[in-house]
Amino acid sequence: MRVYWNGSIKPLEDVRISPLDRGYLFGDGVYEVIRIYGGRLFAAERHWARLARSLRELSIAPEPEAEGLEQAIMTLIHEEGIHDGIAYVQVTRGEAPRTHAFPNPAPWPNVLAYVQPYPRPEAIMRGGRAVLVPDIRWHRVDIKTVNLLGNVLAKQRAQEAGADEAILHRGEIVTEGSASNVFIVRGGIVFTHPATTAILNGITRQLVLELLQAQGVPVVERPFTVEALWAADEVWITSTTAEVTPIVEIDRVPIASGRIGPVTSLVRDAFMAAVAR
Ligand SMILES: Cc1ncc(COP(=O)(O)O)c(C=O)c1O
Repeated sequence: MRVYWNGSIKPLEDVRISPLDRGYLFGDGVYEVIRIYGGRLFAAERHWARLARSLRELSIAPEPEAEGLEQAIMTLIHEEGIHDGIAYVQVTRGEAPRTHAFPNPAPWPNVLAYVQPYPRPEAIMRGGRAVLVPDIRWHRVDIKTVNLLGNVLAKQRAQEAGADEAILHRGEIVTEGSASNVFIVRGGIVFTHPATTAILNGITRQLVLELLQAQGVPVVERPFTVEALWAADEVWITSTTAEVTPIVEIDRVPIASGRIGPVTSLVRDAFMAAVAR
């Protein structure tokens, strides 16, 4: 496997990272996962914009240039012969003697990118299963940092329960999934948590909101409760890898009829059409 590392493409085995890299010591870094469909990057500009925002929020500089990164990723896609897959991009603050505060002078950020095949999600067609898990993460999850332990523990809970995803709640409020955004439908209206610091503003979430608006489906970006989740007519999750995955069961209890609902089908099909374009 060949990867992009700090300006050049090389075999993975040739990449050397210091144990003093702040990504390793503190989780002091950010990342993006971009979909590859038919050998092309999907919604890349939005991912570059979010990466730039994450870096700015953490004052990690200088920012790697999106154009150069994209070119390197296209080379990797070509070299690795990827058709449907993902590109992973990570930027850490870099290597410096360990102190909590930002090192001065600032180290040069370490930039990694690689591609891998990634199949289209199966649960899209059969409907996915979720478990409800308390959201124990920090309060700036709008920044896409590599600090993912809360997400990791939640996803592990889902996996141990034989489910596809963990739906997180802070007290009464449903925030998002461990690696996805959550939408519910009630009485023909779609609800999803607003893009505050309590969720990651998913690129798929943004695209789905636009598709719903284009289809004339009423959408309200407002926090909803666990009770509303249980009472929902339909539930789905969105992410770069899960796309639009219907959730038909939570904690082994069916949502409404336990079948994939009409609004979910509509948005899933519209998203699939956007991907195929
Ligand atoms: C916590 C969290 N929320 C939401 C998402 C969905 O974001 P996107 O649609 O940009 O993949 C992700 C993606 O990994 C995530 O980790």
